[in-house]
Amino acid sequence: MSNDPAKLTIESEKLSIVYELSLDRQRRRANGSHYTPVELAAFLVRQTLAPLLARGQDPLRVRVLDPACGTGALLVAACNYLSERLIEHRCNHLRYDEAHRLVQRYCLLGLDIDAEALEIARRRLPHLPPQALRLADALTEPLEPVDAVVGNPPFLNAIEGRLPEQRKAWLRGRYPEVRGAADLAYYFVARSHEVVRPDGTIGLILPRAFLNAPAADSLRQRLLEERPPTTIFCPEDAHLFHATNVRITALVLGGGSVCVGGSRLPLRPWKVCSCNWWQPLTRAKPSLKPTERLHERFEVIASMTAAMAYELLPYLTDEATGTRPRLLTTGLIDPSASLWGKRRCRYLKSHFQHPRIRLDPSMPTALQRRLKQVARPKLLVAGVAGPGHRLESLLDRGGHLVGAVSTFSIFDPDDDLYALERLEAYLNSASVGQHVVEQLVARAMGAGLTTITKEFLRGLPLPSAISRQGRASL
Ligand SMILES: C[S@@+](CC[C@H](N)C(=O)[O-])C[C@H]1O[C@@H](n2cnc3c(N)ncnc32)[C@H](O)[C@@H]1O
Repeated sequence: MSNDPAKLTIESEKLSIVYELSLDRQRRRANGSHYTPVELAAFLVRQTLAPLLARGQDPLRVRVLDPACGTGALLVAACNYLSERLIEHRCNHLRYDEAHRLVQRYCLLGLDIDAEALEIARRRLPHLPPQALRLADALTEPLEPVDAVVGNPPFLNAIEGRLPEQRKAWLRGRYPEVRGAADLAYYFVARSHEVVRPDGTIGLILPRAFLNAPAADSLRQRLLEERPPTTIFCPEDAHLFHATNVRITALVLGGGSVCVGGSRLPLRPWKVCSCNWWQPLTRAKPSLKPTERLHERFEVIASMTAAMAYELLPYLTDEATGTRPRLLTTGLIDPSASLWGKRRCRYLKSHFQHPRIRLDPSMPTALQRRLKQVARPKLLVAGVAGPGHRLESLLDRGGHLVGAVSTFSIFDPDDDLYALERLEAYLNSASVGQHVVEQLVARAMGAGLTTITKEFLRGLPLPSAISRQGRASL
């Protein structure tokens, strides 16, 4: 390889790109192997390491770990950054290649479970001692304390269930601050916090959902106290990584008391005072003051479970007329309007113009019970927010509609149509849309679609015109 620093970076990046392109889709998904673009790696490394060096520390004394180093994008960026600082520290009495060699020798440590990727990292950083690049699982490997972690850990969504059950159970026991439907990347945050010294820093590329995911509430609370965020960069581009469509955040923890953030550079002051680290991007204050929560006044259920959705398929018919209950998928729910019969819908790979349910004694009991349960006045809410992040809900006065999987049904305990009508107007309003942005858009899918959750609906603050307290005073 050349001695010219610019050429060194380009040539070594080429190695990584060629390797990444050679991975088949299955393997890339299994390991979460999407390597970090050079500019993002340089940004993350600078934000993470600058606070340590600002304390006047000798760059050669900074020990940096990448717990999922892959082909070494972040280790190369760290090597470049520390080499430049080392040259400054030595008042320019050091050549770039000498600085590189020293930094590789003393400062860097990388782990990964992919031996081939590690081989590439080894070629990109040829002066790393052999034990500084380890074939190991970062979540179980015993590790010495380090000054900083930089990493782009694998994003593996727990809901998609790609981790074996045994591994999930082990992770939950080992990292109790990460709960429920957690992405694998969240465990790397917990692990990094354990390994980095109390005054050290952590810089990670993470799914943006980490900023307010309930699964990481306790972890964020602890970090807020022990290693608060200092950079929260949420680039708008969902295609930063090859062959993915995912929204990320570049998050730096520790290294100061001031936080900067935003969706584009330069970042602006970002005041994080609650467990929702995403909220400052949306506006300074929560738009709705909590009074009564929706679940205290109404009942919210997922219209159907995934198992019921499959069980229902043999009982679906396509009939324009008749009295059989109509099935509404998310795509057929518009604000205060049903698109049933007007738009074709897809249901488990079948297409219907007028999907209806043939009630039959041979139906599984749980499904029969659910169909009875929803045959009353209710609101149906689409499971994905519409354009501009607006909720889409409609009132089913007669109880003749059945929401499909990934829609929600909301009932009034007394089937009070007036209350449901007002709730419908409220759910479709801009103020609830703003609430969607504040609470859920960090978790938006790449295409800008936002998944609505039952917890979100249950937790919505009710304006006094709908809440029980408000009704008492009307
Ligand atoms: C998104 S890639 C990032 C690689 C590199 N840090 C970068 O930024 O280009 C994620 C890497 O995590 C590795 N990985 C997955 N599970 C791991 C584990 N339990 N311990 C260590 N590495 C793991 C994968 O092999 C893959 O190389």
